[in-house]
Amino acid sequence: MARELITLEHIYKSYGDQLVLDDLSLMIKENSFVTLLGPSGCGKTTTLRIIGGFEYPDSGAVVFDGKNITDLSPNKRNLNTVFQKYALFPHMTVEENIAFGLKISNKSQQYIKDKVKYALKLLNMDGFEQRKPDSLSGGQQQRVAIARAIVNEPKVLLLDEPLGALDLKMRQGMQYELMRLKNELGITFIYVTHDQEEALTMSDHIIVMNQGYIQQEGTPEMIYNEPENAFVADFIGDSNILRAKMIQDKLVEIQGAKFACVDVGFGQNNPVDVVIRPEDIELLEPEKGIIKGRVLNTVFRGVHYEMEVEAHNYKWLVHSTRMKEVGQEVGLYVDPFNIQVMNVPESEDEEAISELEQTE
Ligand SMILES: Nc1ncnc2c1ncn2[C@@H]1O[C@H](COP(=O)(O)OP(=O)(O)OP(=O)(O)O)[C@@H](O)[C@H]1O
Ligand SMILES: [Mg+2]
Repeated sequence: MARELITLEHIYKSYGDQLVLDDLSLMIKENSFVTLLGPSGCGKTTTLRIIGGFEYPDSGAVVFDGKNITDLSPNKRNLNTVFQKYALFPHMTVEENIAFGLKISNKSQQYIKDKVKYALKLLNMDGFEQRKPDSLSGGQQQRVAIARAIVNEPKVLLLDEPLGALDLKMRQGMQYELMRLKNELGITFIYVTHDQEEALTMSDHIIVMNQGYIQQEGTPEMIYNEPENAFVADFIGDSNILRAKMIQDKLVEIQGAKFACVDVGFGQNNPVDVVIRPEDIELLEPEKGIIKGRVLNTVFRGVHYEMEVEAHNYKWLVHSTRMKEVGQEVGLYVDPFNIQVMNVPESEDEEAISELEQTE
């Protein structure tokens, strides 16, 4: 098992009277691709800046390779950052931009030349040495910013929404390149994004944040398939989230109908939330489902149809490769394994969820 490289221990950080990080603790393993994911303002950049040494916590510790580095300046930490608003030096060529950090650390000319050449090749930018940043596309500038960070051979690369300015196609291309870079260079990536798909695609480990604390962490599969609360379920992908009643172990009542599930330990007749992914709902003959509904609308999405089915005043979102006509009566069936039971969220999570829904 990979060893621990960075840990944050009980970090608190406030700006004025706003508490931005609230007892944040996390651990990052060597050579992993870890993503901090969460809505705007949840504290991702602040966390990254504390790891990088550009910001100091009010209390708590940053430990790197077993050493407490909480008070160490950024240039004494073996890591490099690509900032949310990356800035290349406009008057310098691509080559000079990339070489800048190496020059100030007094490396030999030959060493610098070789390193720059290697970095440009790695990022498919050979031939661009003499160009100025304003003659490059957004994606090319982004590559130069990354090349500039990796020539210093950091143990850790911190990336703050590095692909935010790129269009979808270019972003996907760069996602693959970053994953390739991580594997080729063997460095640890700490990546910040508010884009769920990006996080699911690239990460070994995802840390979902909201309002300065961690909601859930785990592999992309865990976060997607087994969200621990309604905030995570709602933030990661489309889902049906319903208030329900846990009748007993392995039996939950949703809108008056009893669904078999696999969850235990939620007590008897307790309120819970359930999350059911749209692709996990089967539409059968009306009598064969667990509850009956009527198709409200159907949209073709390429691989699947996206349908809204109304049952007991709730609009279920259903994805299926088989289309049902609008107005058709259907029976909804869900396999017990595909029902995820969660504790009812705390009030501030409820607020965050309603905010998320408003911005969708
Ligand atoms: N220097 C600062 N002074 C005062 N408040 C700050 C400062 N930096 C950040 N904040 C506040 O701290 C909170 C968290 O900010 P942070 O930049 O960490 O969010 P984020 O998760 O990176 O958001 P985004 O996705 O929009 O980049 C925000 O409410 C922000 O306004
Ligand atoms: Mg940010």
